Amino acid sequence: MDAKPDHPLLSVLRREAREAPESGIVEVFNYGRGRPGLIPMWAGEGDLPTPGFIYEAAIRSLQDGETFYTAQRGIPEIRSALARYHERTYQRPFAADRFFVTGGGMQAIQIAARMVAGTGDEVLVPSPSWPNITAAVGVSGARPVEVPLRFGNAGWTLDLDRLFEAANERTRGIFINSPANPTGWTASADDLRAILDFARQRGIVIIADEVYHRFYYAADRAPSFYDVAEPEDRILYVNTFSKNWAMTGWRIGWLSTSPALGQTIENLIQYSTSGVATFMQRAATVALDEGESFVRMQVDRARKGRDILCAGLAATGRVRFAEPAGAFYLFFGIDGEDDTRALAMRLVDEANVGLAPGTAFGAGGAAFMRACFASSAERMQAATDRLVAWLRRA
Ligand SMILES: Cc1ncc(COP(=O)(O)O)c(C=O)c1O
Repeated sequence: MDAKPDHPLLSVLRREAREAPESGIVEVFNYGRGRPGLIPMWAGEGDLPTPGFIYEAAIRSLQDGETFYTAQRGIPEIRSALARYHERTYQRPFAADRFFVTGGGMQAIQIAARMVAGTGDEVLVPSPSWPNITAAVGVSGARPVEVPLRFGNAGWTLDLDRLFEAANERTRGIFINSPANPTGWTASADDLRAILDFARQRGIVIIADEVYHRFYYAADRAPSFYDVAEPEDRILYVNTFSKNWAMTGWRIGWLSTSPALGQTIENLIQYSTSGVATFMQRAATVALDEGESFVRMQVDRARKGRDILCAGLAATGRVRFAEPAGAFYLFFGIDGEDDTRALAMRLVDEANVGLAPGTAFGAGGAAFMRACFASSAERMQAATDRLVAWLRRA
């Protein structure tokens, strides 16, 4: 149960803990949870459960008695499988000892933030962004500095000069999430090269959140810092099993960086979660080695979902959006609707669809709504029909 607002314990908490913001996505979710027949598009996940070939490996592991303390960095098998997956995806060699298994992409972000920034430091975050990014930076004691993306005829764009101008002597990190949640903005290889050059000159660490690397609609994967970086670059890559392999509820992801950070990362894992359960790592290893056709099928579904939603909404003439190049969200504005927090609640009541309000995504997001389109064509068509009908009568 929540502490009463005047409970004496609250006044003794660290400011970073006390001021950690409530997620604006969860707020609407709590409002609409349990509504009969509601089509949820507010969360960042698809509608498919984890496939059997993956979860059966977890069952086998438990049956085999793998229930003891685990390796903090990840069991050797998953670290080798991560290296193989990256070699296939990026067409270059990867060493297994650069991979560290974490409790979801979220813990990878948290460890990355803690390693680079603390009290008095700043981290640049292009915005609108997934709220957990700025919140994790804040909880680490540092200040997230939002750098607004622009929304115009070319869709969402990041003005690199504006990004670089936001850096100062306190800037310790630049957080680049590409393809991006919620906008779908995807950095080009030239963007990544320019950001990397700037970070090199200033000694700034890049946190590269590439969790949507496969959800890219122009090629098999999005441009990556792996395409432009050298081994000595200061980059912490954040990734997850959640999206590619429909494993959001498992809470398993990975950090990828120089093996030189191995002991530090092992310590931070030891003193937080003490590692990810071995049976989950076994399942994730199978996902990496045998999950390629499942990933492709999911991306294909998301592409169809995107096309259905975009075509339906565009036909109403009442919405503003740029067709997203990557990730699996449509971030759209509705003419005449500026209070998207209230609008998200109204759409629950009046259209029986669950969307995330743009107010949850920081600077520049307030006039937009986020809809996740990673689901079956039938479900996307039904959700689109409801939204279109609401737009025509509201
Ligand atoms: C941009 C981004 N990074 C990281 C994550 C972390 O995913 P998870 O903690 O489920 O692995 C998410 C999830 O929505 C995300 O959108």
